Amino acid sequence: MTAPKYRELADMLRKRIAQSPIGTSTPSERQLAEDTGVSRMTARRAIDELVKEGLLTREVGRGTFVARPTVSVPLQLTSFTEDMRARGHVPSSRLLHLGDVPANEQVATVFSIEVGAPVMLLSRLRMADGVPMAIERSHLRTDVFPGLDRYDFAEESLYRVLIEDYGVRFEAGEQVIRAGIVRDADAESLRVSKGAAVLELVRVSVSRGSVVEWTTSTYPASRFELSARIAPVT
Ligand code: GLP
Repeated sequence: MTAPKYRELADMLRKRIAQSPIGTSTPSERQLAEDTGVSRMTARRAIDELVKEGLLTREVGRGTFVARPTVSVPLQLTSFTEDMRARGHVPSSRLLHLGDVPANEQVATVFSIEVGAPVMLLSRLRMADGVPMAIERSHLRTDVFPGLDRYDFAEESLYRVLIEDYGVRFEAGEQVIRAGIVRDADAESLRVSKGAAVLELVRVSVSRGSVVEWTTSTYPASRFELSARIAPVT
């Protein structure tokens, strides 16, 4: 089945938007319909879709512009659920994977366990107001958190479960942020074009002296920005 026309047009616009600075004005419905030979209704649906995703913003009487990233999140040891709620967004998730996998060398080093030992892999598509915001892949120690697979992580907050049901007390964490290009396999779920820019956040968090989670979160760069409080060195 071929994608509906407005989706194709939205894809084309996404690519243009990815190369345009914030605030760039974008063609009106009428102009877009004329330029691309589609109906005005198709042009409107494509623009609506991008407004809904937060890539474009409409200003009454002025037109449509490339938007600032919709979600701005501070760098601190909080959960996706808390971060989104604190900013007035409704968080939700789609479960992509929940089950044991053998630890590869990197995972084994992070958790100080044997290569090949089972670790829980939880992969989720995280959304804010129904718009995909991130794919998160969390590794957790199966031996430390037995029974994690009984939770419905499409509904549950991982941090709520760890804190309230497993007695975790987050005391420290380390977060590495790097720029990247979306994996082909993630592009569709994140609703970005192949080759789109992403931010990758890798978090290791610690409770009672042991590493609790190792999570890689992949955020579309167009929808997300991070902020940190900075203070002078004393
Ligand atoms: C953030 C962190 C992840 C953490 C997740 C838990 O996104 N970067 O490392 O696993 O929150 O989120 P929640 O408790 O909403 O499932």
